[in-house]
Amino acid sequence: MMIDRDGIARPGTPERRILDEIRPEGLPRHVAMIMDGNGRWAEARNLPRVQGHRAGAQAVRTTLETAARLGIEVITLYAFSTENWKRPKLEVRALWALLKEFIDSQLDTFKKNNLRFQTIGDLERLDPSVRKYLDRARHVTRDCTGTLVQIALNYSGRHELTRVIRAAVTDATQGLLEPEMIDEAWIAQHLDTAGRPDPDLLIRTSGEQRISNFLLWQIAYSEIYFTKVLWPDFGTTEFLEAIRVYQQRDRRFGGLTDTVPPGGNPVQT
Ligand code: FPP
Repeated sequence: MMIDRDGIARPGTPERRILDEIRPEGLPRHVAMIMDGNGRWAEARNLPRVQGHRAGAQAVRTTLETAARLGIEVITLYAFSTENWKRPKLEVRALWALLKEFIDSQLDTFKKNNLRFQTIGDLERLDPSVRKYLDRARHVTRDCTGTLVQIALNYSGRHELTRVIRAAVTDATQGLLEPEMIDEAWIAQHLDTAGRPDPDLLIRTSGEQRISNFLLWQIAYSEIYFTKVLWPDFGTTEFLEAIRVYQQRDRRFGGLTDTVPPGGNPVQT
């Protein structure tokens, strides 16, 4: 896969200098992002929090365009956690409205950039009107073969694992599953991320250094990159810098350096 360097940054610019240090053969296959700091971004400007989320949606657009041009296989974005329902009603409503608006305005761009839309999380609790938008986005982009964009909605890692365990017990009580059939591969195949490689790189913005219930199973060997930049300010330069730093890390997966294949995420099926 070739990186579209000129499409990402013009020669001579600071972001191009970072980009030129990035090796195409060592790119992360899967980048997961905890998009934090929208509220603080807005508060710093005396704007309502919702304006921060709006600016955050713009940062999502830029990030996806860069991911497509880099040739990243999978991007997973933490857009709404199972805990986010505790926020004020107005903010919750605004977030779902923003998602619909995002889908309306971005579907053509998804197609143009060959991005495939998917979700992870428990969609059952979502408003039927939201689910209709999600169905449409999935349907319209189903033949896109470029970057897979997984938006985490009503998602948390513990909730996902709880659903897997429930499914296992249901199968077991119907006589379809024996204890020895459950191994790591079985569990991985029953997660929302079944069939996708685990994240190689997890990025969290806004200076917080925690996982907040995101992809708990899948990040076992992910490299974690924290930046103080607030999500709405996370642009091409920050994304490229995270990848540059990632490429300098020494990934061992519990073994010794020499045993890891170059670029190395062992595929999990
Ligand atoms: C965290 O910032 C961000 C969220 C809870 C929502 C993320 C949503 C978006 C980036 C916009 C919509 C997404 C898509 C995919 C269109 P925060 O509100 O917790 O910030 P704070 O910690 O500064 O208060």
